Amino acid sequence: MTTNNYVNPDYVPEPEKVNVKKGLEGAVIDTSRVSKVNPDTNSLIYRGYPVQELAENCRFEEVAYLLYNNDLPTTTQLADFEKLERSYRDISKDCLAVIKQLPKKCHPMDSIRTGVSFLGCEDERIWDASPKTNYDKAIRLLAKIPTMIAADYRFKKGMDFIAPKSDLSISENFFNMCFGKIPAKEIVKAFDVSLILYAEHSFNASTFTTRVVTSTESDIYSATTAGIGALKGPLHGGANEQVMHMMIEIADPAKAEQWMLDALTAKRKVMGFGHRVYKSGDSRVPTMKKYAQVMADVVGEQKWMKMYNALEKVMVDKKKIYPNLDFPAGPAYYMMGFEIDFFTPIFVMARTTGWSAHIMEQAANNRIIRPLNEYIGDAQRSVRPLSERK
Ligand code: COA
Repeated sequence: MTTNNYVNPDYVPEPEKVNVKKGLEGAVIDTSRVSKVNPDTNSLIYRGYPVQELAENCRFEEVAYLLYNNDLPTTTQLADFEKLERSYRDISKDCLAVIKQLPKKCHPMDSIRTGVSFLGCEDERIWDASPKTNYDKAIRLLAKIPTMIAADYRFKKGMDFIAPKSDLSISENFFNMCFGKIPAKEIVKAFDVSLILYAEHSFNASTFTTRVVTSTESDIYSATTAGIGALKGPLHGGANEQVMHMMIEIADPAKAEQWMLDALTAKRKVMGFGHRVYKSGDSRVPTMKKYAQVMADVVGEQKWMKMYNALEKVMVDKKKIYPNLDFPAGPAYYMMGFEIDFFTPIFVMARTTGWSAHIMEQAANNRIIRPLNEYIGDAQRSVRPLSERK
């Protein structure tokens, strides 16, 4: 602590009395009807429905509807919802030009963050946060985010933009906009499942970020832009990219066991493992692992799944730390043919649904989020004039 003649003895911080929940661990911030993560039973429900059942029985669009509307759609409701979503897929020439002129080396998460921010600039109703308008904006984000990601994908490879089609599902259309074709139905299903599993996960860092921004009565685009910034980090959504970089670094499944032992000895954080809430396994992993295996069978390449199993075995045996969703999602996206730095933007395509559900919930029953910190800095002191400071 700095001491000088100017110290005011009336206030002396007492670090030993500090009682913080570092990283907000265990802190219950608010109530929510959107989803529940239950670490005791390794379960995750969206609006009451187990995520595994949603993944096996629904399309991503149905889950988006569920998150926005609190119930699964009927046939008519789904048809209306999809019609609207498909009608919003186009992006303006200006938006396309903004994406095109971004530096080729900028990360696609920075591109999509900029793209969403630009959508906000274009929306004349930006300050209208009524439930009806926010619902419409949520569907626009769901529809336009894949178009912007695919545009960035094509431009970064020096290829022409492929316009969205209105007779395809979100997943089919995304493949078509990226690659100019729709792959086998098993691949589309595996991708759709990944979107459902990534759609929502209670008060994670990016969702909490969107709620904080919304709590100031800011708009849905600002909240989503901030959410993208939070998701980009490797401790959160960015982990799915790091998993694949790690697997490529290991290169050979036969080397995986020793690689993991060395990583643990070096106290290295291994991407795709661990979770703040789940301590005995991530509820979403068995479903995603199943579909990653489907991908391995479809493309006829077992290397990544062999490596997956070898890494998982050592980590669980030695540390009792389990894979999280990013661990199977990384190799699954790789086997689908996506460039690694587009894995986290794909996560954005999915999580925009959860973010929007939380943004609408926060806006409907708002109080500004403003926690406290325990000050442990210098004691109060007086300001010396510049000429007297040494
Ligand atoms: N690799 C190695 N050790 C890990 C680990 C990992 N991925 N995740 C947690 N641990 C260890 C920590 O080193 C710590 O050990 P210690 O008590 O001996 O110091 C212990 O497990 C608790 O971890 P901690 O970092 O305090 O957990 P957290 O709740 O603060 O962090 C994550 C959770 C997800 C950020 C963390 O597990 C992580 O960084 N994982 C890798 C990134 C990742 O996959 N993120 C996606 C999350 S869905």
